[in-house]
Amino acid sequence: MTGPKAAIATGIALALASCATTQEAQREEPRELAEPPVLVQATCMSCHAVTPGSFSPIPQAPTFEHIANLDGLTRETLIAFLADSHNYPDIMDVDLSRADVEVVADYMLTLRRDDYKRFPS
Ligand code: HEC
Repeated sequence: MTGPKAAIATGIALALASCATTQEAQREEPRELAEPPVLVQATCMSCHAVTPGSFSPIPQAPTFEHIANLDGLTRETLIAFLADSHNYPDIMDVDLSRADVEVVADYMLTLRRDDYKRFPS
């Protein structure tokens, strides 16, 4: 096969090949993980697991991934919770400025995903 037909066939083969490699890459890295902000590492990580697939240093503290995937949680409800330290459990002796609250909320929301499976409780 020579001429235009061969060129078209080659084009299709290349398109298929590049499609296959994209899918391959997606399978290995399903999503980009954001690095936890320094604030979160410094203030929350002593009790909470702040990255997916890890366990909280203190078992009573839910993982950030769990919190982010709670039913009905939105950016607004999360911000409202974090902005009022009276909501916090007694052990959670942290104080966040309004700007901190948004940094934390925006990071937490990167942990949301459609296929999150909760452990049966
Ligand atoms: C000293 C330990 C400790 C630190 C530090 C801490 N937490 Fe917590 N946090 C807890 C515990 C324990 C719970 C669960 C309390 C419960 O369910 O009774 C909790 C619960 C939460 C909840 C869920 C509340 C709910 O309604 O389910 C959020 C959100 C949260 N923490 C955010 C944070 C953020 C953000 C930080 C850092 C700025 C932080 N925590 C730092 C111990 C801590």
